[in-house]
Amino acid sequence: MKEPLILDGRKVSEEIRSKIKEKIDSYKERGLRDPGLAVILVGEDPASKIYVNNKVKACAKVGIKSFKFELPQNTTTQELLDLISDLNTDPEVDGILVQLPLPPQIDQQEIINAINPSKDVDGFHPQNMGKLVARTEDGFIPCTPLGIDLLLQHYSINLKGKDVVIVGEGFIVGRPLTLLMLWRGATVTVCHIHTRDLKRFTLQAEILISATGVPHLIKEDMVKEGAVVIDVGISKKDGKIVGDVDFEKVKYKAKAITPVPGGVGPMTVTGLLLNTLKSYERRERL
Ligand code: GUN
Repeated sequence: MKEPLILDGRKVSEEIRSKIKEKIDSYKERGLRDPGLAVILVGEDPASKIYVNNKVKACAKVGIKSFKFELPQNTTTQELLDLISDLNTDPEVDGILVQLPLPPQIDQQEIINAINPSKDVDGFHPQNMGKLVARTEDGFIPCTPLGIDLLLQHYSINLKGKDVVIVGEGFIVGRPLTLLMLWRGATVTVCHIHTRDLKRFTLQAEILISATGVPHLIKEDMVKEGAVVIDVGISKKDGKIVGDVDFEKVKYKAKAITPVPGGVGPMTVTGLLLNTLKSYERRERL
């Protein structure tokens, strides 16, 4: 059986991150300040803790100074708004990231709306989501869609005119990714929890992107021969980290496929580093 091309998010991330580091090093040599990212974690969600630590570590490696805020589970919306208000005007902070999901007593949309859009490196503020609709380059594209776009570009997978099927229409990935893929000229189908007979759609995909968090939702009989398969899911199954895609079986059908871990995950963090650098360069007029 033919082995597919593995879309190696770790390798591609390493390449992009080394270029980010070179740029930041050159700014530091010119005597400029360090780029800064504030990362806010509310509560004790173990997965969120891992993601936040990965982001902080990745910042350190490329020379971005990070400011980590760990707030208790019972934090109120007002307390979080007060912190964001301080960070919005802090000259050392180029990016503000509030790790999602937030505890249920906090109004997530109110928090996102309070972030200065010019520091919204997650790209979740309505102004940045709106810029994705308007296709203006000066907004921030959410990190996972941006990372997927860069991964596809790296492997010269062109999107123009392609049939892209996205499974999952969440706020963080599915919805902004739909807009970005449209921007790139793809014909996009979006499937979600209410979609009847998912397979009917996934089988049409030249590029299939799954972002549901349902372990092994995508089976081999749901994938067209020669498709490019992008797996955004990260879940635990029998103590193992798995994606939305039944990788071991689907890989023989796919022309190219992302592994989990080591596919989209690192690209998301790379997207965040790029957005933070973009914000810094804009603030410093570079
Ligand atoms: N939770 C899951 N993915 C993300 C992300 O990209 N950004 C934030 N802030 N929270 C998340």
